[in-house]
Amino acid sequence: MDTFDLIVLGGGPTGYNAAERAGAAGLKTVVIEKRALGGVCLNEGCIPSKALLYSGKVYNYTKTCDHYGVHVTGSSIDQQAVVARKNKVVKTLVSGIGMSMKKYGVTVAEGEGMILGRTAEGFQVEVNGTVYTGRNLLICTGSAPVVPPIPGLREGLKDGFVMTNREVLDLEKIPEKLVVIGGGVIGLEMACYYSTVGSHVTVIEMLDHIAGPTDTEISGILMKNYQKLGIDFKLGCKVTAVKDGKVCYEENGKEMEAPADKVLCSIGRRAVTEGFGLEKLGVYVERGIKTDEQMRTNVAGVYAAGDVNGVSMLAHTAYREGEVAVNTILGKKDRMRYNAIPSVIYTNPEVGAVGETEASAKAKGLDVEVVKLPMAYSGRYLAENEGGNGIVKVVVDKKYHRVLGVHMIANYAAEIIYGAALMIETEMCIDNLKEIVFPHPTVCEVIREALFDVK
Ligand code: NAI
Repeated sequence: MDTFDLIVLGGGPTGYNAAERAGAAGLKTVVIEKRALGGVCLNEGCIPSKALLYSGKVYNYTKTCDHYGVHVTGSSIDQQAVVARKNKVVKTLVSGIGMSMKKYGVTVAEGEGMILGRTAEGFQVEVNGTVYTGRNLLICTGSAPVVPPIPGLREGLKDGFVMTNREVLDLEKIPEKLVVIGGGVIGLEMACYYSTVGSHVTVIEMLDHIAGPTDTEISGILMKNYQKLGIDFKLGCKVTAVKDGKVCYEENGKEMEAPADKVLCSIGRRAVTEGFGLEKLGVYVERGIKTDEQMRTNVAGVYAAGDVNGVSMLAHTAYREGEVAVNTILGKKDRMRYNAIPSVIYTNPEVGAVGETEASAKAKGLDVEVVKLPMAYSGRYLAENEGGNGIVKVVVDKKYHRVLGVHMIANYAAEIIYGAALMIETEMCIDNLKEIVFPHPTVCEVIREALFDVK
């Protein structure tokens, strides 16, 4: 077999997108995938969770539409149909990736890739007895859920009582009582869906707030909305054991219990750096594969991008990192930057954020002004969100008069936030940003309003 220009190990968002870009640029490329193209994002993460959450949203509309003068009686949720639709969406997208690989002339090797080492021709990776040789190697083996040594957790995972992001998307029966360990992104999105469709949900979180690095005022609003929905939050609590039908945790030094039919373990993910022969190349690993701004590892010709480098475990970061790696291989000047990467929580309401929060900016010693507005400044928001309590916060660098961060809680935030990322990425000053025309009436206009309030 001819030598490839690029071997891509892992067909998730990093891998398939990088392979597409490499193929389009004329590089002879092979992508190796052991499960399904699309990786966690498409098969058991971003996309399927959005399908579930949308079903939950539609169901919620039928419960709240009285506010809008629409009366619906007798609506119900059919969980099997929800999961079947989710599977249909996933299947369509996965086959789309297969077609895209064909379009760009990328070879797809199905099976587990094992790095054999390096010869004069290049890096060698074996898949089901076939050895692929490549001048460059892009490692994008992703991440796996963290499973801490809590007594009973591993046993629970084996017998189905405990779930990870994978199993929680395939439940055909809505659990009466769901306990979520970890109030981060996965925990909150799934708590949102299952409480909307009728589960009693308890979220046990180690920190004193939910949603990790999110602006704490915004995560506080999200939590209040959820509490109204009936979700029980146990903050500052440590899980001590998972037993039949319950989760034991410590609250202020006292042993407590939360009854559960199912438990979701969502306490973070770790880079997958073992089990595929990485050690044979001497690639440096420290919590993830260490890379520079061009996604190069310490071994010439070996690149790593996506969750496997442990920097920013988001599919959209992964896309860009993979592109930086491919551009570097092509000899184009490119550099990975992390200061304008949006983050989104697809709860109802959604949270969208990009850049510095007031707290993170101050921790860096930056002199900032924060403009905060209620989302009710937007006519469209008011028309469509009866009783909504969303806000937007714009963090501005006083010295350079530029946007450093935008944080919002409101529906459509996920779709709007890229505009704020553009403001940060292009480093436009506030006076120039004020000249941008936003469509009216829209929810995003509230950002324009906030810009006009900057001193
Ligand atoms: P996460 O890092 O977002 O949240 C984990 C939470 O668990 C943290 O709040 C942490 O304090 C808490 N925790 C850790 N150990 C604990 C313990 N023993 N007991 C109680 N709480 C504990 O991780 P999560 O939610 O599992 O998500 C994994 C990854 O997937 C993240 O990197 C996330 O960015 C990504 N993801 C992104 C989505 C999005 O962009 N919308 C959606 C889903 C996942």
